[in-house]
Amino acid sequence: MDTEQPAAATSVQPDSPEPIDRVMAYHLRTKHQFNRYAKSSGFLDWANQPNPFRRFEGAQLIPLPLLNPEDEPQSPSYEALYQAGAATTQPLTNRTISRFLELALGLSAWKRAGESEWALRNNPSSGNLHPTEGYLVLPPIDGLELRPGLYHYAPKDHGLELRIEYSHDRITRLLAGFPPGSFLFGLTSVHWREAWKYGERAFRYCNHDVGHALGSARFAAATLGWTMLLLDGADQNQIARVLGTHRTEDFGEAEPEHPDCLAVIWPAEGVKHDASFVTRTEPTAIPMSLDPDLVKELAAGPWHGKANQLSREHSIHWNLIDEVAEASWKTNWEPRTVPLADPPIARSEPLHASRTTSDAGQIIRQRRSAVSFDARTAISSATLFRILQRLMPRAGTPQLTRPMPWDLLPWEPAIHLLLFIHRVEGLKPGLYVLARDAEQLPFLKNSMNPDLEWAPAPGCPTDLPLYWLLQGDAKRLAAQVSCHQGIAGDSAFSLGMLAEFEGRLRRGGAWWYPRLFWEAGLIGQVLYLEAEAAGVRGTGIGCFFDDPVHEIVGIKDLMLQSLYHFTIGGPVDDGRLLTLPAYYHLQRG
Ligand SMILES: Cc1cc2nc3c(=O)[nH]c(=O)nc-3n(C[C@H](O)[C@H](O)[C@H](O)COP(=O)(O)O)c2cc1C
Repeated sequence: MDTEQPAAATSVQPDSPEPIDRVMAYHLRTKHQFNRYAKSSGFLDWANQPNPFRRFEGAQLIPLPLLNPEDEPQSPSYEALYQAGAATTQPLTNRTISRFLELALGLSAWKRAGESEWALRNNPSSGNLHPTEGYLVLPPIDGLELRPGLYHYAPKDHGLELRIEYSHDRITRLLAGFPPGSFLFGLTSVHWREAWKYGERAFRYCNHDVGHALGSARFAAATLGWTMLLLDGADQNQIARVLGTHRTEDFGEAEPEHPDCLAVIWPAEGVKHDASFVTRTEPTAIPMSLDPDLVKELAAGPWHGKANQLSREHSIHWNLIDEVAEASWKTNWEPRTVPLADPPIARSEPLHASRTTSDAGQIIRQRRSAVSFDARTAISSATLFRILQRLMPRAGTPQLTRPMPWDLLPWEPAIHLLLFIHRVEGLKPGLYVLARDAEQLPFLKNSMNPDLEWAPAPGCPTDLPLYWLLQGDAKRLAAQVSCHQGIAGDSAFSLGMLAEFEGRLRRGGAWWYPRLFWEAGLIGQVLYLEAEAAGVRGTGIGCFFDDPVHEIVGIKDLMLQSLYHFTIGGPVDDGRLLTLPAYYHLQRG
C-alpha cells in the first residue's frame, strides 16, 4: 500500500495558510501507515530524556498533607460517584485540596527494575512521559489555609508552588459569576516531553493526555462531591495569562508550556465561603469564560519562580508541533453561559446492580495499563454493556444534568466507537459500532461501507445504540492495525474511537482539533476505571495505522477519523518489576 498521498487527503488544501487546512494537513501528515510511521527521530536520546517533574525554582513550595487512603476525607464507593448526591459534599480545605490533587494528578506508585526507578501517576500518559502540568487558581475561602493565588502542582513533592499571589478583591471579582466556593483548575502541556520520543505525532498524544487528566480531575472532584465544567469560551491568550505560560522571562531556556484549558470546580451543594469582599448570591448560569480585563489585571504580578530545564539539550526541534499548536490556538473569546440545572443535582440514575464495592480512591489508585493480556479472559455481555453505558453522554440533555463525567465537556459528543469484540460471552466475535449520540446513526451508516449489517447487538439494553456490523475473528486484524501490538487482539475487546472530524472542524474552527482528542482521552479514562471496577484491566493505544483502520469499515474521507484506540482484558503482569508505594520517598507527619 503506497501512502505518499493518503486516500483521505482529498478535501485538504496542503499549502493553504488557513488554520483549518493547517490542522487537517497536520493530521494527515502524522498518520502512521503500514509502510511509514509518522516522523520521529527514530532513536531515543537517553542522555536528554526530559525530566517528568517541572519545578519553578524560587517559588515557595507549600507541602500538602500526605493522606493515607483511610484518612479523612475518605472517598465514597466507586459506584456512588455516578449516583445523584451519593458522595458527601466536602468543604474546600488543605486536606480536601490534597486529596483532590492526589487522585487527579498525584503519584500512584514507583516501579523499579535494576538500577532504574520511575514514577507512575493516577493519570496515565503515552509513554509515561507526562507532558501535562496542573495548576490551581484559588480565591480566599474560609477554612482553606492557602493565600489566594495561582499555584503549580508539583506531584513528586505533593506540594503547591505559588506562582503569583492575588489581591482578594481582584480574584473575588474574577470568580464572582461562579457558584460559591468555586476555584479554577488549569492544564498546560510541555510538548517537548512527548516530542522527544514520538516526534511529529506528539501533539496528538499531548492532547490525549489532557483529556485523561481532565477525566482524572473530574473523578477526583466527584469523590469530594464537587462539580466541574470546562470553561470552553475562554480564548487561549486568556488561559496563557492566567496560567503564566506567556511569561517567557520565567521560562528562559526551559521548555515552554502550552496553555490547554481552564475548568471551574465547585462544591455541588453550598458550603461556607468567604463573603467578606463581595456579597454573593447563587448564580443561575455559569459563565464559560473569564472577564478579559480582570484577567489582565490579575496577571500584572509580581510572579515568582523560574521554570527548570527538563532536558540538557534538544537535538531536534519539532517545528510542526509549534505550527499545529499555533493553527489550533483558540483566539475567540465567547462570553456565553451554561444554565445551572434546577434542581442542581439531577444526575443519572444508577444502572444495573453494582459490580464493585471498592471505594473510588482504591479504583483510581490501582489503575494501571496492562502491558500484555492472557489471550483467554472473557467478560460477559452484561459487563460490556455496562462499561459502554458509562460512555454515553446523553446528547442534548442540559449540560449539568449529563451523567458524570460527561457534564464536564460543554459540547455534543463527537466520538463513536468501532469495537473489535474478541472474548465477550453472549456476543459473536466481530465488529460492532457504538453510536454515542444515537441521532448520528444515519451519518455513521452513510460514512461506512453500505454492505455492513447494522443489526442491534443481541441482548443489548434498548438505551444503548450498539450495532453489530460484521461477524468474524478480528483478533489478528486488531493487533495488525494497532502497530502490530498484541494487546489489541489478546484482550476481551479493543476499539477505535471514530471522531466526527472534518464536519466538526469546518463548523467549529481549527481550535476544535485538540478538543476531539480531549473527548477521546476522557473516554479512555472512563474505560481505564471501568476496567478496574470490572476486575479486568485496560490500556490506551496511541500507536495505530490510521487509514488501514478506516479501510476496515470503508471510511473513505475525513468525515470520520479514528483518533485513539483502547483495549480491555485479563492482564499478565511483568513479574520483573518491583512496585514501591507512591509517596515512600517523602516522610511527612
Ligand atoms: C494516550 C495514550 C496512548 C498510549 N498508547 C499506548 C500504546 O500504543 N501501547 C501501549 O502499550 N501503551 C500505551 N499507553 C499506555 C502508557 O504507556 C501508560 O499509560 C504509561 O506507561 C503509564 O503507565 P500507567 O498507565 O500504568 O500509569 C498509552 C497511554 C495513553 C494515555
